[in-house]
Amino acid sequence: MTFSRRDFVKTSVLGAVAGGVAGGAISSLAQPSQQGHASENDSAKRPIIICANNGHAYVEAAYAFLKSGGDTLEAGVRVVKGPEDDPKDDSVGLGGLPNEEGVVELDSCCMHGPTRRAGSVGGVRNIKNVSMVAKAVMEHTGHVMLVGEGAERFAVDMGFPRENLLTDRSRKIWMLWKEFNSDRDWWGPGIADPHWQAPAPGSRPRADLLRDRIDQLKHRASDLGIEHEFLLSAVRRVLFPPTGTIHCSVLNEKGEMSGITTTSGLAFKLPGRCGDSPIIGAGCYTDQDVGSAGATGSGEENIKVAGAHTIVENMRHGMSPQEAGTDALKRIVRNYNGDMNKLRFMDIIYYVLRKDGAYAGVSLWEGYSSGNPHKFTVHDGSLRSEVATPLLKGFSQDWPPFPTIPEELKKDSVYLK
Ligand code: GLY
Repeated sequence: MTFSRRDFVKTSVLGAVAGGVAGGAISSLAQPSQQGHASENDSAKRPIIICANNGHAYVEAAYAFLKSGGDTLEAGVRVVKGPEDDPKDDSVGLGGLPNEEGVVELDSCCMHGPTRRAGSVGGVRNIKNVSMVAKAVMEHTGHVMLVGEGAERFAVDMGFPRENLLTDRSRKIWMLWKEFNSDRDWWGPGIADPHWQAPAPGSRPRADLLRDRIDQLKHRASDLGIEHEFLLSAVRRVLFPPTGTIHCSVLNEKGEMSGITTTSGLAFKLPGRCGDSPIIGAGCYTDQDVGSAGATGSGEENIKVAGAHTIVENMRHGMSPQEAGTDALKRIVRNYNGDMNKLRFMDIIYYVLRKDGAYAGVSLWEGYSSGNPHKFTVHDGSLRSEVATPLLKGFSQDWPPFPTIPEELKKDSVYLK
């Protein structure tokens, strides 16, 4: 699909009018960066690692491993395994937020450029390092994807220990969600249903109701024993269930590339729900002749545009990393005819790495809440976080919809740590 900037502005403005834009914060396109990320202009460097910001603490060691001749996929595993092992990161692995029945279900996929192989697992219970299980599927089976009980049994056969992935804190947040949602759940209609209706923006009674709910939730969270400093984080997770994930793309000096993505998926999802993270071509795609890309955010939306594959193919046809990622974001906007009243309930960050070392991080919105712009991590000899370039100006409100996000919740960071 070709989609000129002029067409896009027209579509988004029409969509905004048709949908009745909810607030000033989401009324216009973000100004695209004139320069792109530094490496699109400077001579790109190799080796390079790019990943979601929750991998930041693990990139230095993985980069040293890569520099010493280590395999690109193994370097990626070393980044994403950190958050998988960390019980305080509630977006992946141990301590990930559970499904609606209180069971942690994990998804992951990987692609190994040098051997042009792929592996994937979906809906895996009781095994925390699903990134390594996806790699094991790639290396030790004739398949690409295993799901559910079969994937768990394969992991145990491969020597991965079964363990309880539900930490006490994640269990308490799930309890809080269950009590709060005793009269609502993840059953349809979903946001893509033609009959779905956005809540009336800014209506006072609902906003007042929400204020009351937040106060009740804070008290209940305290009663459940959630630590004082995490009360607001817990409330935010109940009101706006996150889709935290980690993706990592890696390029070495020889031009070899790999990519890997791992997640506990959408918090409080229906059992068996898989998002984009285990889908080769959506959550991750690598072709070392061209580049590698991956995603974090609203998995359902990313599946529908085959985001990572779309981005790599865009680069194959000459787009820069930033143009390639932005085009995939525009396809998501197009799927909703630019209706901001729906788009504000979703968000995506794409991590894009070209074979020459040029890279970009692009996002649908500026961040989940004001003061917390979407960031990603890069290491090309120096380790740093950079702000992703947003397509739309403003901040998303995660599903399920509420008319406003109270100021105190806006200040909360995305992760509990
Ligand atoms: N992107 C993670 C998910 O939606 O499951």
